[in-house]
Amino acid sequence: MTANTGQIRAGQTHPARKSKVIVLTGASSGIGRATAVELAARGHKLVLAARRVDELGLLARQLDPTGVRVIAVPTDVTDDASRRALLAAAAAHFGPIDVLINNAGVTVEQGWWWDDADPLRVLRVNLESPIELIRLALPEMRRRDAGQIVNIGSVAGRVATNGVYSASKYGLRGFSLALRRELQGTGVTVSLVAPGFVKSEMTASARLPMPGPEVVAHAVADVLERPRAEVTVPKFYFAFVLLNTLFPAVGDFVVRRIIRRRYAHTSRTT
Ligand SMILES: NC(=O)c1ccc[n+]([C@@H]2O[C@H](COP(=O)([O-])OP(=O)(O)OC[C@H]3O[C@@H](n4cnc5c(N)ncnc54)[C@H](OP(=O)(O)O)[C@@H]3O)[C@@H](O)[C@H]2O)c1
Repeated sequence: MTANTGQIRAGQTHPARKSKVIVLTGASSGIGRATAVELAARGHKLVLAARRVDELGLLARQLDPTGVRVIAVPTDVTDDASRRALLAAAAAHFGPIDVLINNAGVTVEQGWWWDDADPLRVLRVNLESPIELIRLALPEMRRRDAGQIVNIGSVAGRVATNGVYSASKYGLRGFSLALRRELQGTGVTVSLVAPGFVKSEMTASARLPMPGPEVVAHAVADVLERPRAEVTVPKFYFAFVLLNTLFPAVGDFVVRRIIRRRYAHTSRTT
């Protein structure tokens, strides 16, 4: 196995839990990969989506060599035909989808967002794609009056840090909380899981102490068993969210230090 994401425990399942059909985007690395490992170990049926075909196929085979309980569907979540093909493949293999986890995400990794050739891709992947996938999956969930939607937000959706990335995660948070209210009284639940910094490809250049992505994977698996509107993980980030809300000047100070660290080794021009 490849992984900075913990042991794969294929075959070690918890048969007492109800096995759900779960579509998981961004499964080829980081939080998505760790979540796939965790959910497979809990006995769920998985449809793994991301663009990197080899990583995705390898992970699916590691989790389920039979190809019965875990399948890989190469997907670009920003492409409408690809999104439709993903949900069609899931339905064809497993039948109705119980859970949609919108985890795929990107940020502007190098330099300032305004110097990037296409900063709006961050909004397309992190915000538009979850909305469009939900729009495709929701009618069937509403018909059955059952389903779960889990969106992976960020502490950067509560504490403003990086312009377009925070825009995408503030947007996803607002969308998730509102959708949850719109669906109250139906059998469809909506949860937002908001991680702080955790180790992944996205944070590979960050010089901060960080836990592994498994902490987020556990939080996601837990909201599937006990749906909640919003979960911050690791929990101590909630104190930072509160501090930033009550004392924005302290938030300014801390975020300025994070930004300085981020740009310390790049050719910043402003
Ligand atoms: N790591 C952190 O500290 C942190 C903190 C807060 C929130 N988050 C959020 O957690 C989620 C996962 O990020 P991560 O940290 O695990 O980063 P990561 O290791 O870079 O994983 C990102 C995943 O998104 C997929 N992806 C990107 N663009 C895609 C597209 N157009 N179509 C389909 N899949 C796409 C990538 O797969 P392919 O490249 O194979 O397509 C990859 O599987 C993101 O939503 C991120 O914003 C992360």
